[in-house]
Amino acid sequence: MNKLAGKVALVTGSSRGIGAAIAELFAQEGAKVAVHGRDQAALNEVCRRIGAAGGRALAVTGDVSRLADIEAMRARIEEQLGPIDVLVANAGGTRTPPNQALDEIDEAGWRASIDGNLTATFLTIKCFLPGMKQRRSGSIVTMSSAAARRPTPASPLPYAVAKAAIELLTQALAAQAGPFGVRANAIAPETIMTENNERQIPESIRASLIDTHPVRRLGTPEDVARAALYLASDDAGWVSGVILDVAGGAVLAR
Ligand SMILES: NC(=O)c1ccc[n+]([C@@H]2O[C@H](COP(=O)([O-])OP(=O)(O)OC[C@H]3O[C@@H](n4cnc5c(N)ncnc54)[C@H](OP(=O)(O)O)[C@@H]3O)[C@@H](O)[C@H]2O)c1
Repeated sequence: MNKLAGKVALVTGSSRGIGAAIAELFAQEGAKVAVHGRDQAALNEVCRRIGAAGGRALAVTGDVSRLADIEAMRARIEEQLGPIDVLVANAGGTRTPPNQALDEIDEAGWRASIDGNLTATFLTIKCFLPGMKQRRSGSIVTMSSAAARRPTPASPLPYAVAKAAIELLTQALAAQAGPFGVRANAIAPETIMTENNERQIPESIRASLIDTHPVRRLGTPEDVARAALYLASDDAGWVSGVILDVAGGAVLAR
């Protein structure tokens, strides 16, 4: 129940989906959590749920592809909750359709995918790392995807490439920041049934999708949240530079 007692955590992109599940679990485990996104109503709802369960949450907004926005968030979190011990750089998502040939991908979609995933993750880490190094303590979890683990036409290529780069960024970070007491790990989830995917994945294809997973079900936001809790907490005190597939074995199967 208290794996993150006394810690301050920021989960980017926690107004919904995987991030919201991570924020709620971290709060249950005793962390003071900065809940982040752009949709104020959704943020308020996640904070309300955390408060109702007895936790402490602060809503922060900002575009994580803009360093100035992230710096402003950091100032607000430090003032209200204290310095960040745990950073989950989760915000991101696809910006182009699946099943596109490389020469059909438009420039704007490519740039939006790199900006919204890779650049956003880089800028978020850049903003919070100096404080962690100075305090000689911290845990950073980044969000990759099964899309980055092998080429598959079902995954939009610019997104997959951005996520693959996040994995290398995370491993370079683990190597650089380890001597300063900071750990860094990535999670690579397969299909997770968030509110968005519940709407977007038709019932008709779910059975065949399930068949691509050796563990015969699709993932839940809570599956990812439990992996994030492990990596963020002292249970993973000697784990750094790892890419953790939370994928029901699907990466092996294709
Ligand atoms: N769901 C899956 O099957 C799956 C699988 C593999 C990897 N992932 C990765 O897991 C992470 C979370 O995915 P999800 O499915 O939970 O996503 P989601 O439901 O679409 O939620 C995305 C979250 O990120 C925020 N966000 C996105 N871009 C942002 C930006 N530029 N600035 C600020 N906030 C931003 C959104 O904020 P607002 O909505 O408030 O604007 C929202 O809170 C993503 O990195 C995604 O690529 C997901």
